[in-house]
Amino acid sequence: MLSLSSSSILVTGVAGFIGYSLTLRLLKHGFTVVGVDNLNDYYDVSLKQARLKNLENFSCFKFYQANISDRAHMQQIWDHHPSILQIVHLAAQAGVRYSLINPFAYIESNIMGHMTILELARQRERFQHFIYASSSSVYGGNTKLPFSIEDRCDTPVSLYAATKKADELITQSYAHLYRIPSTGLRFFTVYGPWGRPDMAVFLFTNAIVNDHPIQVFNYGKMKRDFTYIDDIIEGIMGALNAPPSQEASTAPHKIYNLGNNKSEKLIEFIELIEKELGKKAILEMLPLQAGDVPESLAEITASEQDLNYSPTTPISQGIPKFIEWYKEYYKV
Ligand SMILES: NC(=O)c1ccc[n+]([C@@H]2O[C@H](COP(=O)([O-])OP(=O)(O)OC[C@H]3O[C@@H](n4cnc5c(N)ncnc54)[C@H](O)[C@@H]3O)[C@@H](O)[C@H]2O)c1
Repeated sequence: MLSLSSSSILVTGVAGFIGYSLTLRLLKHGFTVVGVDNLNDYYDVSLKQARLKNLENFSCFKFYQANISDRAHMQQIWDHHPSILQIVHLAAQAGVRYSLINPFAYIESNIMGHMTILELARQRERFQHFIYASSSSVYGGNTKLPFSIEDRCDTPVSLYAATKKADELITQSYAHLYRIPSTGLRFFTVYGPWGRPDMAVFLFTNAIVNDHPIQVFNYGKMKRDFTYIDDIIEGIMGALNAPPSQEASTAPHKIYNLGNNKSEKLIEFIELIEKELGKKAILEMLPLQAGDVPESLAEITASEQDLNYSPTTPISQGIPKFIEWYKEYYKV
């Protein structure tokens, strides 16, 4: 079991949506966290800074503004903290659509950055566990639902997805070669308070509040397994508690889906936001975008068994919680 000890946890992407929410949880439970983030301007930097400000209230939190693909800087940070024995690696260039615009940002952060972090883990004797963010997007062109970790996923439909799949393969090779206990988590469309402004729930809310049209792709027939942030954090905590055994004959590397196990129609999602805001959306119906998949749904049996993962938040509860945060944060 994950226990408080003299060791610390490195969280990369700590000023991001999931990194922030996880770190808050860890700090509240008395863990020592070293956080790294380059605070890039892919979306509103002030939101990242506001998240950081909340974390900096805790004395057992240490933050470094650093680019994870800067090997020399990351080495310096690593050498300064010999107590780090676990890593939750969440820093990445996220977003499917932006990978069509700025492909090299994905190679730099998601491939070079991922490799840099793994190399650090490899150097440390007694290193315990490398947890990293993968994505439901690795299922790409798969049409069989729900998406299962047993399914092949060799047909990415975006560069973002290809980098996440590459991360899984690179990690597999390191787990095999150096027996680094590693866990990859395929997150399914995460939403909730302190969420990402480039994602649907945030974009839709902004648009409705500001009387702008909402772009509804695939003419509203899009379906997503929306997963509430607290459920995702439970899943990551579960993973921290369950490092793959180094004793096993195979590489100590496991991959899990973290989804809500319910596929929701985008249109119903929008209706819930409208209800909470007390305002109708202006809908602009558009075709499916390049890089997007029409539907996602997670098969989570292995996550339930191994990580004690059990998502409990339906969108009917999660959306009101997000809107409540949004209204308070943006004073609307
Ligand atoms: N939110 C989701 O629905 C979702 C779904 C699937 C996978 N993921 C993955 O989960 C992880 C966290 O996602 P998130 O939603 O919190 O995204 P986010 O963009 O809010 O957080 C990522 C953080 O990483 C930082 N970062 C990016 N490149 C960096 C670099 N080179 N060096 C240092 N810091 C860097 C960013 O500044 C950001 O604060 C990412 O790996 C993402 O790909 C998220």
